[in-house]
Amino acid sequence: MTDMQRIALARRPKGDPVPEDFSLETGPVPEPVEGEIVIETSHLSLDPYMRGRMDDVQSYAPSVAIGETMTGQGVGRVIASKADGFKVGDLATGMTGWASHAVVKAAEARVLPAEVPPSLFLGALGMPGFTAWTGLRKYGRPQADETLVVAAATGPVGAMVGQLAKAAGLRTIAIAGGAEKCRIATETFGFDAALDHRAYETAADLRKDLAELAPDGVDIYWENVGGKILEATLPLMNVGGRIPVCGMISWYGGVEESQDRLPMMWRSILVKRLHVSGFIIFDHWDDYPEFLTDIPAKVLSGEIKHLEDVAQGLDNMPTAFISMLKGGNTGKQIVAL
Ligand SMILES: NC(=O)c1ccc[n+]([C@@H]2O[C@H](COP(=O)([O-])OP(=O)(O)OC[C@H]3O[C@@H](n4cnc5c(N)ncnc54)[C@H](OP(=O)(O)O)[C@@H]3O)[C@@H](O)[C@H]2O)c1
Repeated sequence: MTDMQRIALARRPKGDPVPEDFSLETGPVPEPVEGEIVIETSHLSLDPYMRGRMDDVQSYAPSVAIGETMTGQGVGRVIASKADGFKVGDLATGMTGWASHAVVKAAEARVLPAEVPPSLFLGALGMPGFTAWTGLRKYGRPQADETLVVAAATGPVGAMVGQLAKAAGLRTIAIAGGAEKCRIATETFGFDAALDHRAYETAADLRKDLAELAPDGVDIYWENVGGKILEATLPLMNVGGRIPVCGMISWYGGVEESQDRLPMMWRSILVKRLHVSGFIIFDHWDDYPEFLTDIPAKVLSGEIKHLEDVAQGLDNMPTAFISMLKGGNTGKQIVAL
């Protein structure tokens, strides 16, 4: 029988991950027991949250143990099933980890429609797109003519946030890394304006240009990155503004010095009566069926645009992941096997 390959956590990273923090392991393809299926993966997802799972710290989900397969979602074909509702040959998705084959509990897996490219369920139609959709309506509460700012704006979360906000009649400002991503933000994803955060040394410089693009202030700051961009935006928030706190990728490898100044800005939350709402998507999966009745048709028709950045081969996962954490991806980072 074919071997299965998987990428394990070899050691805990110090700061930014390096290739030596991972190891490629080979073993037998797992067998399902009652209530389980085996998926042979075709596409694996790379997501920023995986950086947090590499650390041995208390968080909203357990850490990956040394030697354990890196956590993550995959899509592929069912090659063995001992579960009702799944048959060999079905397309399915579940938490397969970074692996060529995975045994998954049927209760935690989902059959995918044959007519939709399965990788979409890792991005625009999966966890990141759903995060944007549910977080924006519950915590962003957008109103027409308001102004929204989002960073990592060409990624699967930021691009969906921007497009949904634009469709709701908001002025949308993208922050992205580099001139090309800024061009994509406005031309592909329809943002009204875009700023390249890498072009600014300080938060104060970035704030000056952001203020010019948002002359009426900022009503929704969708927090994806923290750091310099948070520091630039917070003082521009309008009274009653909303900050859905979705992620803080600029701090995932350690904390930069701007965090020392952020407690001073805590005052903005009081003075501006801001609604700051941290949320984790796994508290919201009950709403996923509703998302599926609304968004897939718009994505498939092109009304909502999406971009994928596809790396090839399981052995390239660590370098694709390390690159994504630094902004090397343009669009949803996927690995095709
Ligand atoms: N709360 C939840 O349940 C939940 C669910 C999904 C995602 N998230 C979070 O949402 C955020 C976006 O996720 P995604 O999947 O859409 O990621 P993504 O945009 O595909 O990838 C991460 C992007 O972050 C940007 N970035 C990296 N370091 C940065 C820095 N120091 N300063 C500014 N930007 C930086 C880069 O974009 P640029 O090159 O454009 O800077 C990079 O491409 C992440 O923080 C993630 O953890 C949270």
